[in-house]
Amino acid sequence: MQFVAGKTAFITGGASGIGLGMAQAFAAAGMRIVVADIDEAALSRAETTLKQSGADIKTVSLDVSSGEAWKAVAADVEATFGPVDVLCNNAGVAQARITFDKHLELVDVPDDLWHLLMETNVTSVFNGIKTFAPKMIERGNGGHIVNTASMAGFLAPPGLAVYVASKFAVMGLSESAAGELAPHGIGMSILCPGGVQSNLVATTASRRASLPGASQGPAASLITAPLPHAPKMSPLKVGERVLKAIVNNELYVITHPEYEPLMEERFAAVRAAIGESAEPGYLDTPTMLERSRSQIYLDQASRKQGAGSSIQ
Ligand SMILES: NC(=O)c1ccc[n+]([C@@H]2O[C@H](COP(=O)([O-])OP(=O)(O)OC[C@H]3O[C@@H](n4cnc5c(N)ncnc54)[C@H](O)[C@@H]3O)[C@@H](O)[C@H]2O)c1
Repeated sequence: MQFVAGKTAFITGGASGIGLGMAQAFAAAGMRIVVADIDEAALSRAETTLKQSGADIKTVSLDVSSGEAWKAVAADVEATFGPVDVLCNNAGVAQARITFDKHLELVDVPDDLWHLLMETNVTSVFNGIKTFAPKMIERGNGGHIVNTASMAGFLAPPGLAVYVASKFAVMGLSESAAGELAPHGIGMSILCPGGVQSNLVATTASRRASLPGASQGPAASLITAPLPHAPKMSPLKVGERVLKAIVNNELYVITHPEYEPLMEERFAAVRAAIGESAEPGYLDTPTMLERSRSQIYLDQASRKQGAGSSIQ
């Protein structure tokens, strides 16, 4: 999407952290913004902040895990604010820690925490694309979708199994959908940050508090405040980087390149596992292999970092 000024972006989880950073960066580039969030107080604070900078915005209350809520909000937004050109599926929750040094391991994860993460981080992305992509396709003017994954969409350290599962799901869903939407002129970007200043720990605690079993078992003693004195990236800088990715149609948005050695370790482990066939002499047919190919990978691999258009 070469020209962003005057285009409308719909940002979930836009009232705080990375989503608010995107809203600020997009508004500074002349975009119109719909900020969608479940937290009414944060929405009202974000509205004040964004309006003070002169942004043309609308705030909407939305639980991203509800397909019905998406339909109602989309109808309202299109009737009162106009069509959406850029969808940012960004709302999310994290996997909790027991203490600052101890993660909540998979065997201790309550069932409802699993469902909360999957619904907030994954079903939400399905809901968002199902709601807005058909409208973009029908209008025929293209568009762009940004899905917030994480470095946890590439790396799976112990103690984060549920969060990692949700972010790998966002990664796979986005890569496959990118190939389906590209012929309609709809671009796709997957945001994969490391540490960013935000309210994610508090947000997760407050969303967890809405679960029936929140006050019992291991879930009762999970921490609700971020790690003290941990320096993190500015959400506005992340938002500015996302804007560049929209303009240049970059699939992977790697804001923290310092993770490259860790990513290479994973890629090397996968490469090392590719060896002898389980049935030597048997080969899947060239047709089956061709059906497994995605042009998206070839296109992205041939890109030069830093190349591309400036923001307009
Ligand atoms: N902060 C980081 O270090 C970091 C790193 C990698 C990825 N991420 C991802 O970035 C995204 C944004 O998180 P953040 O760090 O800015 O946290 P944040 O808590 O500051 O913002 C998340 C926003 O999502 C909203 N939200 C949560 N559940 C919702 C629901 N069901 N419906 C609608 N809105 C909902 C919250 O109210 C909040 O405003 C998340 O997907 C997160 O997994 C964050």
